This record gives sequence, C-alpha cells and structure tokens, in this order.
Amino acid sequence: MRYTPGMERFPPCPAVLKRIEPVARDTLVYTFDLERPIPFRAGQFVNMTVPTARPRPERSYSVFSDPGEPGALQLCIKLLEGGAASEMLRAATVGDAFTFRGPMGVFTLAADDAPVTLIATGTGIAPYHAMLSEHGRLHAAGAAPARRFRLFFGVRDEGDLFLTDTLQRWKRELPDFDYRVCLSRPSPAWREPAGRVTAALAETLPTDAPPVGHFYLCGNGPMIEETKALLLERGADRKQIHYEKYY
Ligand SMILES: Cc1cc2nc3c(=O)[nH]c(=O)nc-3n(C[C@H](O)[C@H](O)[C@H](O)COP(=O)(O)OP(=O)(O)OC[C@H]3O[C@@H](n4cnc5c(N)ncnc54)[C@H](O)[C@@H]3O)c2cc1C
Ligand SMILES: NC(=O)c1ccc[n+]([C@@H]2O[C@H](COP(=O)([O-])OP(=O)(O)OC[C@H]3O[C@@H](n4cnc5c(N)ncnc54)[C@H](OP(=O)(O)O)[C@@H]3O)[C@@H](O)[C@H]2O)c1
Repeated sequence: MRYTPGMERFPPCPAVLKRIEPVARDTLVYTFDLERPIPFRAGQFVNMTVPTARPRPERSYSVFSDPGEPGALQLCIKLLEGGAASEMLRAATVGDAFTFRGPMGVFTLAADDAPVTLIATGTGIAPYHAMLSEHGRLHAAGAAPARRFRLFFGVRDEGDLFLTDTLQRWKRELPDFDYRVCLSRPSPAWREPAGRVTAALAETLPTDAPPVGHFYLCGNGPMIEETKALLLERGADRKQIHYEKYY
C-alpha cells in the first residue's frame, strides 16, 4: 500500500463487484460499480480496503479503466500466493461488497505534447491502459492532442501475456502508437527475440544524443531502478522520468 500524505481525507466509497475476467495466468480484470463516481486522472490509483492486510488494512491499485467512466472502476490485478488482498480477491464473487478510497498519485501524463515512452512489467500496464483508452476515445471524437506513444510491455512468458488484441487495435486506430512485447522467458514456440524490456528500450535509444520526451516506468522495483539508470546514463534529465513502483 502506498502511503500518500493526506490520504485519510478521502472518504470510503462503497462498491459492488460486477464482473471478474481472467486475462492471463493469475491475472484478472475486476469491474466494480461504485456507489458514487471516483473522478480520477488516467494513471492514478485507488486504495482498496483489505481488512486482513498489514501494516494498514488497504492495498493500492492503478485504475485500469478509462477515466471517462468514473462510476465503473476496473482494476487489473495479479493474484499472489498467500497475499492478503490476493486471497480476498481469489475468494470474491460477483455481488460482493468492496470499499475504495481515492483517487491518489501523480503518475499522470505531462500536459505538454512531447513524445511518450511507456514501460511496463506485468500488471504495470494498468495505468497505460487507462491513458491509452482515454487517448483513443478523445481521438475518435476528434479531440485528442497529437502525441507519439511507444509502449514496451514485459512479462515472463506467453502465459503471462494479455491485452494483445487491444494493443493491435490501438496500433491500427491511434495516429502514432506502436508497441513491443518483451518475453523474458518465452517458450521455444515464441518467434520474436527473447529479452527484458530494459534491453528492448536500450536498442531504441539514440546513442549520439539524449533521449527525447517523457518516460513512464511502472511495475517491479528492480525494473524501474535499471530503467532509470539506463535513461540517466544515456543523458536523460530526471524531469523526463516518471515512475510508479508496485513492490
Ligand atoms: C501505487 C501502487 C499501485 C499498484 N497497482 C497495482 C495494480 O494495478 N495491479 C497489481 O496487481 N498490483 C498493484 N500494486 C501492488 C498491490 O498494491 C499489492 O501489493 C499486491 O496486489 C499484493 O498484495 P497482497 O495483499 O496480495 O500481498 P501482500 O500481503 O502484500 O504480500 C505480497 C508480497 O509480495 C510483494 N509484492 C507485492 N506486489 C507484488 C507483485 N505484483 N508481484 C510480486 N510481488 C509483489 C510484496 O512486497 C509482499 O512482500 C500496486 C502497488 C502500488 C504501490
Ligand atoms: N510469472 C510466473 O510464472 C510466476 C511464477 C511463480 C511466481 N511468480 C511470482 O509472481 C510475482 C509476479 O511475477 P511476474 O512474472 O508477473 O512479474 P515480475 O517478476 O515483475 O516479472 C515481470 C517481467 O519483469 C522482468 N524483470 C524483472 N526484473 C527486471 C529488471 N531488473 N529489469 C528489467 N526487467 C525485469 C521479468 O524478467 P525475468 O523473467 O528475467 O525476471 C519479467 O519479464 C513475483 O513475485 C513472482 O516471483 C510468478
């Protein structure tokens, strides 16, 4: 759970679990109907009440859904063996009552039109799903700012991979979006090169000039530390690097 100064001021918002959709190994998208909307910015997170969790009875989750639908909250969660929230969610069924507080966090798109590189491992793709869903909706309405998006999505193997249809659709429909899926431990049947997101990103960074635009990093802590170090070594300014560390 991320402690955010002043978070106590967010009143608890009751919710009902409406849908559970498995999307990859141990990874599910949960849809909740909120008693009142939580108006969030794409990239922000909410805290879910988990009575058995320690040291505080809450866990943080990036919002997966488009901020255009603030009453129907979607979260994309990897269930961990023995985790307090994970075991609560594993036992949950449609119609169960939940409580959320938020929105919290500053992991949101900068308000300029500089190119954006999004780097995710695992469910770290959740905030980018919210950002790109919003961008796609605004684009369809003719209201999206012109902006270049590049996404690197890293998981271990094919069983952990999800959102592939959505990524292909965005590539077809969005004006300047491209992505690369990075499997670090693929099966022998995988036809692309194997490797981590850090290696894939390193290949695309210029060698004779500092990297351009904003870099967003979300997922496990070691990936974030290595990616930050890579960007700084290649001449990026700290202000270009934004990150949300899950653990
Ligand atoms: C700002 C923020 C946003 C987050 N958003 C998401 C999200 O959108 N989806 C999501 O699945 N998780 C997300 N997390 C992680 C989430 O808050 C929980 O830590 C996770 O669900 C495990 O909780 P648990 O109670 O089941 O396990 P715990 O009882 O907390 O125990 C799990 C143990 O595994 C470690 N751990 C925590 N998360 C992971 C992980 N994903 N993989 C491996 N080890 C882990 C912890 O350090 C702990 O030691 C986010 C975390 C933060 C801080
Ligand atoms: N996915 C599984 O099959 C599996 C099985 C059992 C338990 N678990 C547990 O479940 C939790 C989540 O697992 P997960 O696979 O979803 O997420 P994860 O462990 O965060 O791995 C996701 C991706 O991040 C990569 N990565 C790890 N450290 C990195 C670094 N320093 N720089 C760049 N990339 C890095 C991984 O590559 P690497 O593969 O090279 O590490 C993998 O491609 C972990 O606690 C894990 O131990 C997962």
